[in-house]
Amino acid sequence: MTSPGTSRGSGRGKLVLCGEHAVVYGHPAIAVAVDRRTDVRLAARPGPTAIHSAHADDRLREALLEVIEPEGLDVEVDTELPVGRGMGSSAALAVALVRARAAAGGEAPLDPDEVYRRAMPVERRFHGNPSGVDVAVSARGGCLWFRRGEPPIRETIEPGPWSFVVLDSGCAGDTRELVAGVAARRPGIDADLDAIGALVEDARRVLHDPVALGERLTHNHELLRRIGVSTPALDELVALALGAGAHGAKLAGAGGGGVVLALVDDAEPVLAAARSRGVAAFATRPWTAS
Ligand code: PMV
Repeated sequence: MTSPGTSRGSGRGKLVLCGEHAVVYGHPAIAVAVDRRTDVRLAARPGPTAIHSAHADDRLREALLEVIEPEGLDVEVDTELPVGRGMGSSAALAVALVRARAAAGGEAPLDPDEVYRRAMPVERRFHGNPSGVDVAVSARGGCLWFRRGEPPIRETIEPGPWSFVVLDSGCAGDTRELVAGVAARRPGIDADLDAIGALVEDARRVLHDPVALGERLTHNHELLRRIGVSTPALDELVALALGAGAHGAKLAGAGGGGVVLALVDDAEPVLAAARSRGVAAFATRPWTAS
């Protein structure tokens, strides 16, 4: 229930199934929204706008001020997403904020394209040169085929008996720095970025087949390692998931820390292996707007 004078909005987190980093350079990516989200609540207050968040800092404040006024608001941010872990927490925040601001202005619910248009300046504040895949998925839900500058295409991904396990490396990666690092290593790594693009095209054909898709995910991890965004901890989590029976596993998001995504028939053996090593892990499923 929204109390009088308050407005709310929410945005979903995401996992990139394949294609991160290469997507910044015009290659495709496939990403899914997940069943974890960020909520924003706006209420009127006298004086300067106050931001209440477990992660409030100058960058957050500057990003939020792309959409809201510097005076007169109380902004409360709540998230179920691990922050800085490659699950699109900044995009989810941007989408939630845009929706809450539109509601506060008495607008009808925005369509996803308009949410995307208004949320991208916020995402740019966080990440410098974002492809837009996180915002597109957060605004739409479901599974998307995304290519920078083109309308996203909805894909059908059949979760059947399988699901994802997310394993947390325990440290954050800075997406802005990681994207800048990849840019600095070009053109030496362009062949690997092209290979990621080709792999995404190939993965699209096997979205219905967890065994074949899993192989593509693991290959994608190897290519991400080659472009310099993995870490020994992420490589170990991939090995741990594969050793516990996952069809495939890869770092998800910008890397440099963050999470590993494992595609599994049965989450329990991977969760148990993670527990036995003291690794935080949880099962999650794609989320589609009803
Ligand atoms: O780490 P995240 O959740 O912000 O994901 C970033 C995905 C990248 O492809 C690395 C960057 C982008 O803008 O697409």
